[in-house]
Order: sequence, then structure tokens, then C-alpha cells
Amino acid sequence: MGIIINKLGSCFAAEVLGIDLRKPLEEDTFKQIQDAFYEYSVLVFRDQDLNDEQQIAFSRRFGPLESSVKSNPYSGGGGQVIVLSNVNEKGEIIPPNSDQMIYLSGNMLWHSDSSFKRIPAKASILSGREVPPEGGETEYASTRAAYEALPDEKKAMLEDLIATHDYSYSRGQVAPHLITQALRDELPPVPQILVRTLPETGKKALFIGSHASHIVGWPIEKGRALLKELLEWSTQPQFVYTHTWRPKDLVMWDNRCCLHRGRPWDGRKYRRIMHRTTIAGDGPTVRP
Ligand code: OGA
Ligand code: MN
Repeated sequence: MGIIINKLGSCFAAEVLGIDLRKPLEEDTFKQIQDAFYEYSVLVFRDQDLNDEQQIAFSRRFGPLESSVKSNPYSGGGGQVIVLSNVNEKGEIIPPNSDQMIYLSGNMLWHSDSSFKRIPAKASILSGREVPPEGGETEYASTRAAYEALPDEKKAMLEDLIATHDYSYSRGQVAPHLITQALRDELPPVPQILVRTLPETGKKALFIGSHASHIVGWPIEKGRALLKELLEWSTQPQFVYTHTWRPKDLVMWDNRCCLHRGRPWDGRKYRRIMHRTTIAGDGPTVRP
């Protein structure tokens, strides 16, 4: 039986039905998924009751996985699965005002996963193991559609600019007291090209988000103003798809051409447990 692909958003995102990702994928099915991924940037798979091993096996089909940041106490400590959760090992809800939840609230700023690494992530795969009945959506913004819609003069102005991405800068906005020297040492600021060309489609996309701190060679404030303007442009409703989680949804997105952010929910009342795997990028966006 073939898979079914339904478009979800107005300019990107699609739902994939008729597939069980616990089983090894046939080559032609994998190819269809990969093509859909390059076309739609966000794919939603319904009813995928995966464990970590199965999630890793599916993710590995797309390339080598990233390990999480070692010196970040709340994101998996160097493993291949990042757990974003408001529940502790004893199964109790962690209060929203705890350090862990403040730290995780950084995910509520628009961002691209691992853009603070010299080789930024290609894709992320997020499994909704337990999702709240209301709130806690994940929003996606297509920076490919947003780039496409820019006036030509703006596109020309942005060409060849380089932004500095810095995890201590972005996390410092929500949790300055949790930025340690070990974290700074592990994740020094890195350069990323501002306009990326995606090799599979030849399309261009803005590479921005919370980790982007400033523009190389520009006064800090001027660069920040440009990055803010581009973020506001890219996250207008016509470029956004909001994913309302159903239990066992698995969502895969292309970090090279979309941004995402988590939305709030009542964290005193509802559990939210998400497991993420991350597919590593092919190389740096700026030649060393
Ligand atoms: C992530 C992330 C947001 C969310 O998994 O990378 O940013 O809605 N998640 O949980
Ligand atoms: Mn993220």
C-alpha cells in the first residue's frame, strides 16, 4: 500500500499517512518521504508509537545523527535523544518556575536547531510521547517562502552577509544565570551565511533565529535590527504552520529553511514529553 501525502499549510508542511515507522522502510517509500521532505520542509507522521531505538533507526536513514550539547544539563548530556519534558524521573510534574523549565523555555523563541554549531543541523525529528490537551503547539515558519517573497533589492542586499550565531547570547535572554563557562567553551560563537541555497532544490532560504546575534562586520545594533526585521518578516501568518499535537505524532522539519518555536501550555496541570533526534548537517555554511 502506498503512502498518502496531504498538504497542511498554505505554502509548506504536509501530513504523511499510511506508514508504520517502527518497521524498516522500503527504499522507494523512503525516497518518497525524502522527496516530500525537500518539497514541504515539515512532515507530520500520525500515530507513530515509537520507542527511542525505533526513532533513532528511522532518523538514521537520513544521515548521521548529532549528539546533544554535553555541558547543557537539560538536553540529554551528549546522547542522541534530547528529551524535552516537564516530568521528572519519578513521574512528577516539574514546576514551570524551576531552572529546568526556564532553560527549556528558550525553545519558545523562534530558532533553527543547532544553528549555534559550526555545522548546523539538517533536520530534527520530534516525537510527541505525551502532549497536553490544549496549548503546547509547535509553530513553524518557512524562511524559504519568506525569502522568496522579499523584494529583489532586499535579496541583493542580503546576499553574502554572514551572521554570528551564539548559544550563550540566545539562552542568555531567558536564563542568564544558567550560562556556565563550560557551556561558553563548548559552544563558542560561529559564523553562518544569512542566505542559504538548498542543494536539493536550488531554492534559497533565510538562516536566522534566536541564536543569530549580529552581522559580521556591522555595528552590533545595526545587525540586530536587520535580524529582528527579517525574523518579523519571516514569521508573518502567511509563512507559518501551527502544529497542534496529537499523541504519537512525529514531526520532522528542515532546519535549513524553517524556524520553529514551542508555544506555552499549562505546565502545572498538563504533562508534555517530547523526544527529539537531530540529523547532522553536511558541512559548515561558511568556509573556515
Ligand atoms: C525542539 C523544539 C519545541 C517544542 O524540539 O527542538 O524546539 O514545541 N521544540 O517542543
Ligand atoms: Mn528546537
